[in-house]
Amino acid sequence: MNAVRLGVNIDHVATLRQARGGMEPEPVVAAGIAEMAGADGITIHLREDRRHIQDRDLRLLRETVQTRLNLEMACCEPILDIAVATLPDQATLVPERRQELTTEGGLDVAGSLRPVTDAVRRLQDAGIPVSLFIEPSAEQVAASAQSGAQSVELHTGAYANARTPEDRARRLSQLAQAAAAARDLGLRVHAGHGLNYTNVRPVIALPEVEEVNIGHSIISRALFVGLAQAVREMKSLMAR
Ligand code: PXP
Repeated sequence: MNAVRLGVNIDHVATLRQARGGMEPEPVVAAGIAEMAGADGITIHLREDRRHIQDRDLRLLRETVQTRLNLEMACCEPILDIAVATLPDQATLVPERRQELTTEGGLDVAGSLRPVTDAVRRLQDAGIPVSLFIEPSAEQVAASAQSGAQSVELHTGAYANARTPEDRARRLSQLAQAAAAARDLGLRVHAGHGLNYTNVRPVIALPEVEEVNIGHSIISRALFVGLAQAVREMKSLMAR
């Protein structure tokens, strides 16, 4: 079996830059360093409120990323227009609320099948493969398959936030069931949110998981050990 791909989410490099509204640190430099250290892809979220990643970042990253550029985005017209004009290697549709600290909960594909299907089609017609960030539930997996998306990214937040071994095991088993159901319906399986150096391994051990997207823990560790080392450590944890 091929190794699970690591997509490094560099949104928080932009968060730090936006704290001063200046030029540093530069996300495009972070992307290059992450790639040289073994990242299999670079993930960014161009939010409607532009709180971290800016349009310029997307343009520069599209020109410079040598692995795969995964654009997380809300299912809304202006961002769809930007995605179709920029052609990332993958689009991941996520829910977005202005007040949230980070993406909270998965996309309700079952409850909004029509607009999600339209967005999936629009992106795919432009040649962009689409992944849907969903809660690990049978209902959301089935709706994702109906939408025509190629992949789902299973939300690992509840697993990552579990406070007891029992709850963690229960959340992992939900992820395992959703991953198996997704594969049975022909979907590829990714995972992400809240993954870190201590909780990633059970997730990548799920046989269906092909890609994880990790941001906060890697960028946090980078403050102390440097970004290249932080990426290398995650890659080597994932390889064992
Ligand atoms: N995957 C998706 C769809 C996300 O929205 C996020 C957060 O931006 C991540 C992965 C990365 O989450 P974290 O920063 O907690 O690793």
